[in-house]
Amino acid sequence: MKAIRVREFGPPENMRIEDVPTLHPGPGQVVVHVKAAGVNPVDTYIRSGIYARKPNLPWTPGSDAAGVVESVGEGVTGLSVGTRVYTSGSITGTYAEQTLCEEYQLHPLLQKLSFEQGAAINVPYATAYRALFQRAEAASGDWILVNGATGGVGVAAIQMAHAAGMRVIGTGGTEKGRNLVKEQGADHVLNHHESDYLDQVQRLTSDHGVDVILEMLANVNLDRDLKVLAMNGRVVVIGSRGRIEIAPRDIMSREATVAGMLLTNVTKQEMATIHAALHVGFANGTFNPIVGKQMPLADAPLAHHEVMKPGACGKIVLNP
Ligand SMILES: NC(=O)c1ccc[n+]([C@@H]2O[C@H](COP(=O)([O-])OP(=O)(O)OC[C@H]3O[C@@H](n4cnc5c(N)ncnc54)[C@H](OP(=O)(O)O)[C@@H]3O)[C@@H](O)[C@H]2O)c1
Repeated sequence: MKAIRVREFGPPENMRIEDVPTLHPGPGQVVVHVKAAGVNPVDTYIRSGIYARKPNLPWTPGSDAAGVVESVGEGVTGLSVGTRVYTSGSITGTYAEQTLCEEYQLHPLLQKLSFEQGAAINVPYATAYRALFQRAEAASGDWILVNGATGGVGVAAIQMAHAAGMRVIGTGGTEKGRNLVKEQGADHVLNHHESDYLDQVQRLTSDHGVDVILEMLANVNLDRDLKVLAMNGRVVVIGSRGRIEIAPRDIMSREATVAGMLLTNVTKQEMATIHAALHVGFANGTFNPIVGKQMPLADAPLAHHEVMKPGACGKIVLNP
């Protein structure tokens, strides 16, 4: 089968498509025939070698995919050959024609979702759910600011917050992206490239401020975020690519909370809870993954360049 391999950490061009041995499941394991693989920013951090967790080389990137069960190992009881599934993690990586998973890493993919949409579920939707409901404990009626709403996590967060009856502000860097955010349920959209865009938050919320901020680029925005929080507001740091100076008094005066989250810290049991909740949202149509770009597997290097560029508009997926 064909798989993307990284033999040395470095630039996107270090990912090459290779012929590798076909996979066979061990006890409790499942081989999935991958129809689409999701591209996440974390895949690029790991590939470049800057990420804290360094896999053994050669390495096939990817935790997210959707496809069809090809074979099951001894003791697998919940899945059979031919079942449509999406992954939440993989033993061998998902940028490939086949991926090997533990049974708990697989979830049924509803018929109404395409394989490409299935590949856009795991990291984005699990992260948005974790941040919004488990870390920020956001509730209906709350004002939510999704700072960076046009990408995988942001779109998922907008759909969730809207469905839960929150009042939603989303930001995007392009008009196309902001239109997408509006279509997905944001009440208001702002341009995070305008220097004073957060000044509008007080007006939009009638001077209440926002109760919750989901922050995709904390190293740029955290200081300003703290100034537009409501009393008892919560910021969840989802993404950050550097350092920032803040004024701690902004946290004191609002009795605010700055919380972090990292999806890899989520336990197996918490992950099962999250995917059970996601299933309901996909089934009733309130969650709907948006695929912005599809590329052939061999274009993985291009996909890694694209995912780090400004101008996000939904997810990037690879088709093996
Ligand atoms: N903590 C975790 O467990 C976890 C899990 C998943 C993702 N993440 C991180 O969260 C971030 C978003 O992930 P993703 O999958 O949604 O990535 P993505 O699809 O590449 O989207 C990136 C988002 O960041 C936005 N952005 C760019 N400049 C910004 C700015 N100045 N202020 C606010 N937002 C800005 C982009 O908007 P425009 O392109 O429209 O400018 C886009 O909405 C990444 O840094 C990722 O590594 C963390």
